[in-house]
Amino acid sequence: AGEVATMSGLPRAVVATVARVSTHLAAEPGQIAPTVLMPGDPLRARWIAETFLDDAECYSEVRGMLGYTGTWQGHPVSVQGSGMGQPSLAIYATELFAEYDVRTVVRVGSCGALSESVGLRDLVVATGACTDSSMNRIRFHGYDYAPVADLDLVVAARDAARARDGLTVHTGLVLSGDSFYHPRPELTAPMVAHGVLAVEMEASALYTLAAAHGRRALAVCTVSDHVVTGEELGSEERERSFAPMVEVALAAAVR
Ligand code: HPA
Repeated sequence: AGEVATMSGLPRAVVATVARVSTHLAAEPGQIAPTVLMPGDPLRARWIAETFLDDAECYSEVRGMLGYTGTWQGHPVSVQGSGMGQPSLAIYATELFAEYDVRTVVRVGSCGALSESVGLRDLVVATGACTDSSMNRIRFHGYDYAPVADLDLVVAARDAARARDGLTVHTGLVLSGDSFYHPRPELTAPMVAHGVLAVEMEASALYTLAAAHGRRALAVCTVSDHVVTGEELGSEERERSFAPMVEVALAAAVR
């Protein structure tokens, strides 16, 4: 069973155990590019690698959290699944920054619109991320840290999005919530009243960890559902809205 080949050409058992230098990623040093796109869904990571990258090879299958490295327009780029929520993303982002010296991470994901000014299929470039999570409260001993995106990445993503026909882009705050099924969704109302555009589940931890390691991060999200109106994209439309976002993220990440 250990002889089953993987995309990297190594037997599966080797990828999963021997080559691992980090706890949750099986890549060897140098196998992960300095620039990483980070979708929540590992199958999205595979789809991005197969659709957008040249010569993509899988470097990790640990826990099914797939990671690939290839090139995009000649630039080395990796794509690494993060899982859902800040605790899961934080594991992978920490290892990318601390163990693999990754310089730039751009999260590509979906979000729920909180503001009536934001529509389905729109792109939200998260300049900063509020949160209801305890992760930063613990990290900062109760002080409220302000997790922000890298400004150059924000501008590059906004420029790339504006250059595309038919794509509406918003820049502003998101709420990185710990609960997809929130027991009291009305608690987000003050956030909305203070300009928060959309809710997702990872950006706040990503921005904080990038800052802790002196690296660059950005989250761009397509609006897959509208918390106010209750509208949502079907699965096929979700797929279709993802491709322009990935292209915007790649353009921003390598600029
Ligand atoms: N909540 C949290 N995360 C999300 C949502 C949502 O409504 N939609 C897409 N990601």
